[in-house]
Amino acid sequence: MAMSVSEAVAARKSVRAFLPTQVDAALLADVLHRATRAPSGGNLQPWRLYVLHGETMARFRALMETRMAETPGGEDAEYAVYPANLKEPYRTRRFEVGEAMYELLGIPRAEKFSRLAWLQNNDRFFGAPAAAFCFTDRIMGPPQWSDLGMMLQSAMLLFQETGLSTCAQEAWSRWPRTVADFVGAPAELMLFCGLAIGYPDPAAAVNRLVTARAPASDIVTFV
Ligand SMILES: Cc1cc2nc3c(=O)[nH]c(=O)nc-3n(C[C@H](O)[C@H](O)[C@H](O)COP(=O)(O)O)c2cc1C
Repeated sequence: MAMSVSEAVAARKSVRAFLPTQVDAALLADVLHRATRAPSGGNLQPWRLYVLHGETMARFRALMETRMAETPGGEDAEYAVYPANLKEPYRTRRFEVGEAMYELLGIPRAEKFSRLAWLQNNDRFFGAPAAAFCFTDRIMGPPQWSDLGMMLQSAMLLFQETGLSTCAQEAWSRWPRTVADFVGAPAELMLFCGLAIGYPDPAAAVNRLVTARAPASDIVTFV
């Protein structure tokens, strides 16, 4: 029996270690197509997806190892992932998720180098055998970027339903040229994020991370 929406929403979480098991291309195509039932203002459908799997993913991985060695900090980002000088309560939330993750990984704060090395797993899609890159047209603004999020969450829930796990990755904002060149995206498209896709590694400690949420009273006001 298929999962209910409630079950999929509750079960979805970001997974950062995957089994090497390949993901069927037809399944990827089917889920991503169904995710485009997501709403978008004016039905612009401002998303554009490029999928990597199998041999293509192997070639991309090899390219990334070269790029990471050449340019360890990545390329110039085309957008800032977070506002400068993140204020409260956002600052603490970001800090806490990082600390909780490194605690599971057993990497203390003092081990800056080990923490940085772990972060580089972003550039390897955390070992996921499949992935999607989400682009939008450069003319699009905040309303259309929010549409991308709706489509991506729909995809993540539908993947959850099939037993696949995901991790959305803005970390790819540091590799806009490498990614666009590899996938052959036209110049009018801008990379938003990557989505790692695969079967979760149940033995990986990092996948035990369960993130907190603010209580409803902090975010919902009945007027
Ligand atoms: C658009 C978007 C981009 C994200 N980028 C990254 C990323 O680059 N690396 C990463 O490890 N997690 C990334 N995340 C995952 C968030 O850290 C995660 O969603 C958040 O901590 C809540 O945890 P949960 O997804 O397990 O519920 C991203 C999430 C979203 C929605």
